[in-house]
Amino acid sequence: MKEQLIKLLLKEPGAFVSGEKLSEELGCSRTAIWKHIDALRQDGYRLESAPRKGYRLIEVPDMMKAHDIKIHLATKYIGHKIHYFDAVPTTQKEAMKYIQNGATEGELVVTSNQTNGKGRLGRVWNFAQAKAIAMSLILKPDISPMKVPQLTLLTAVAVVRALRKQTNLDVSIKWPNDLLINGKKIVGILTEMQAEPDLVHSVVIGIGINVNQEQDDFAEELRDKASSLFIESGQTYKRAELIAEVLNEFEGLYDLYLESGFSVIKTLWESYAISLGSHIYARTAKETIYGLATGINDDGVLLLEDQEGQIHSIYSADIEM
Ligand code: BTN
Repeated sequence: MKEQLIKLLLKEPGAFVSGEKLSEELGCSRTAIWKHIDALRQDGYRLESAPRKGYRLIEVPDMMKAHDIKIHLATKYIGHKIHYFDAVPTTQKEAMKYIQNGATEGELVVTSNQTNGKGRLGRVWNFAQAKAIAMSLILKPDISPMKVPQLTLLTAVAVVRALRKQTNLDVSIKWPNDLLINGKKIVGILTEMQAEPDLVHSVVIGIGINVNQEQDDFAEELRDKASSLFIESGQTYKRAELIAEVLNEFEGLYDLYLESGFSVIKTLWESYAISLGSHIYARTAKETIYGLATGINDDGVLLLEDQEGQIHSIYSADIEM
């Protein structure tokens, strides 16, 4: 109900909508409308009410509860069920718990403060002050476990497209799944799966987006490597709108992938990648290889041609350009 009410008020930005019209459209009494308006005010929505004119929406808060996100959502199934937490150790583990309790494809776990977040290669991904996004998307794809890394690349494409659209910033991908602006990391993606050798039970895609943090919000040792949309643009963003746009983009690409395979996603990924066509250092657990990044293969593996012309398949590494 909250969601429908906000949608109606958003349809005519800045204009008053009468209590009568709202109660007719939502099929409830005017007292019920007044109660919902009051609840929205408690949630931080700024609403003006005027006798005989009705209500108008003045400002939407920067919150990420289910209704804040859903008012911007245009998907058929992704994000239709959202579990929001003010603070949680890691959304990845929360998502696993929902899976154990029968969660279905497209359910999303979101938090405003992550206290024990997981990054790649055992790193941490934490933040506080409700300035960033941590979310984990539950999927149940009918694909082979070998193909699951393709979903990480697909997610990177979805997030790049969403952020470019919402911010006009020049966001690009650094293999395998870091999103950068001006060479600094803005987004991290972590994919985990529950599977048997031939069967995927579920996949959890974790996405962390640095949105409204200032320089001082990052630990000193991270300041030359990490950044936020705010630092790069001087503007703050409503996190719920960003999440909805990511989900909108994701669903389109995911449906395309399930129907037609990886090739279109791969082409899109390559068009947003900065590391391809350049000489880079790939630091793997065993060695550091210097060479020309020529492309990725269908498993998302990076292909690196060294100075002797030998092609190396890089499965996991830190990349330096
Ligand atoms: C990376 O190391 O680049 C991946 C970072 C992934 C962070 C996200 S935030 C949401 C989800 N929950 C976690 O604990 N990790 C992922």
